[in-house]
Amino acid sequence: MAHALEQLRDLALKEIGEASDEKSLDAARVKYLGKTGRISLWSEQMKTLSKDEKPVVGKLLNEVRTTVTGAIEERAVKLQSAKETTVLAGIDISLPGTPVESGSLHPLTQMLDRSIAIFRRMGFALADGPDIEDEWNCFDALNTPPDHPARNEQDTFYLPDGRLLRTHTSTVQIRAMTAEPPPIRVIAPGAAYRRDEVDATHSAQFHQIEGLYVDKNVSVADFKGTMEFLMRELFGPQTAVRFRPHYFPFTEPSFEIDVKSKALKGGERWIEVCGSGMVHPAVFEQVNTARGDNAYDPEEWTGFAFGLGMDRLAMILFDVPDIRFFAQNDLRFLKQFA
Ligand code: PHE
Repeated sequence: MAHALEQLRDLALKEIGEASDEKSLDAARVKYLGKTGRISLWSEQMKTLSKDEKPVVGKLLNEVRTTVTGAIEERAVKLQSAKETTVLAGIDISLPGTPVESGSLHPLTQMLDRSIAIFRRMGFALADGPDIEDEWNCFDALNTPPDHPARNEQDTFYLPDGRLLRTHTSTVQIRAMTAEPPPIRVIAPGAAYRRDEVDATHSAQFHQIEGLYVDKNVSVADFKGTMEFLMRELFGPQTAVRFRPHYFPFTEPSFEIDVKSKALKGGERWIEVCGSGMVHPAVFEQVNTARGDNAYDPEEWTGFAFGLGMDRLAMILFDVPDIRFFAQNDLRFLKQFA
């Protein structure tokens, strides 16, 4: 009898081994281990066996059942993985996936962020003003008389109501001083507009960071220190900074600032980046008149102001040959700064 059970086991194992899909494997399971399966029937026959036979056959029956159950499980795993292999056969999992495109900051924004971070370390706060201005904030308060060429209709975008697109961010100097008494230490990044002939270095819209520092005993030395610190942080410790005498109606003395750095693609060339100077007493007087007090007494307070050309700085830092690239939204250009 024991021998017959072993024969049955071998038969079952053979059939399980030959099952080529889940369906035939399940049929084999039912045939041998199902309620009326051939192995299950043996359990029922146990009671007909003699006392001597029972433990022997019982033990064998358990072994056979375990072996066959194990074989079915093993075969199921094999069939499953074979199925997965066929499904994956048509797929090259070494191919790169579909890339998710991510945007990046515009080079001018990057330049602005870097500059602002440096000014913040020196204690400058952010100030703001509108792009559409009145003539007083843009010119009169800045000691720029009506016959000054900057006010020429050919150079400035006027609106029908007499307002204009600000020609520089110096308007924010006036707004900041009108709003707050000294001491004051602010920067104002933003756009400015001029009716320039558009070429590789001129655009009708450009960007500046205006700066204003008014306190007691502010000197040209303070200003030079501030600018040198900024330029060296931006362009490296080897950067040389040059102050050239210039003229602006709202500063006296006035300077243009040039930088030169081996680290920059321009090499050993001086590049003009900033108009600046010590705040003109006439500007303080205008502000006082608007405020209706003498908060900015020119005998008591001095200050420096500057307008940094952001586009120019970004062109130097990123070695961009044409200012128009900044506004063309060409991804081939923009992606280089990602
Ligand atoms: N507003 C001047 C310009 O745009 C720059 C400047 C700012 C000069 C502050 C002096 C002081 O050219």
